[in-house]
Amino acid sequence: MKKLAAAVTGVLFIILIASLQGLSENQVRAGNETDEFEYEYYYNDTDNEVDVMDNISPTNIPAADNDTKTINTSPDSIMVFVNKEYSLPEDYVPDNLVMPDIKFYSYDVPDKRYMRKEASEALEKMFNDALKDGITLYGVSGYRSYSRQKEIYNNNVLARGKDETNKVSASPGHSEHQTGLAIDISSSALNGTLSEEFGKSEEGLWVAGHCAKYGFIIRYPKNKENITGYSYEPWHIRYVGKKNAKYIMRNKITLEEYYGYIPSKGSKDEIISDAN
Ligand code: DAL
Ligand code: ZN
Repeated sequence: MKKLAAAVTGVLFIILIASLQGLSENQVRAGNETDEFEYEYYYNDTDNEVDVMDNISPTNIPAADNDTKTINTSPDSIMVFVNKEYSLPEDYVPDNLVMPDIKFYSYDVPDKRYMRKEASEALEKMFNDALKDGITLYGVSGYRSYSRQKEIYNNNVLARGKDETNKVSASPGHSEHQTGLAIDISSSALNGTLSEEFGKSEEGLWVAGHCAKYGFIIRYPKNKENITGYSYEPWHIRYVGKKNAKYIMRNKITLEEYYGYIPSKGSKDEIISDAN
């Protein structure tokens, strides 16, 4: 009888160990699937915070689409490269602009509420999922025509001078907003303003941590000003598709670095003098 009891106990012990192993494997698998958490503290520059991005081994980084490594100059492509040197034609207007069904901070100017369809759908999903996490995001400024960008740029030059303007505002033809793939977002705590504070707010941290999952990148990151040519803009997200966004965000690079872009000699100066 004692032998039987010992045998039963042994079998039960083996079953217990086996099920615990199974459980931990499942937990690991589930952890890998919820990759949005890997970005959680991407832009948190507090020294005490663990930067989880550092723990991602190179083998976990999804390969980017090799076909897109050559600088893409097709305005209709989601990977089009627009910066101080690369511009869009003056008459370029995306042909599939729609109004995303999200909250906007202001409803005064309907023109600011459009985005290209693919980006709009991804944005709606992102805003809805943010809400499920208790984060309320507001759209501020999406698509802008060439002429609208010209107005904004010229107003900025009048208000703060050309040098300061060129750090924060693209000259007409050089703004990603004209692609319909970019949008500025904010929160009610910031009264819908576009401020660096957004990067440290819970809304901004959520965006930085999750945007790649929906195909967006933070286009003008902190400490990349010399590469992008613009100040840190935690509020400006750009749609590039999920695979490319994950690659860019996980590697902490910019679109310039993704394309291996090297400015042509004098290009920035030429653009600055063009802008008048
Ligand atoms: N603020 C960004 C650079 C733009 O004007 O498009
Ligand atoms: Zn913007």
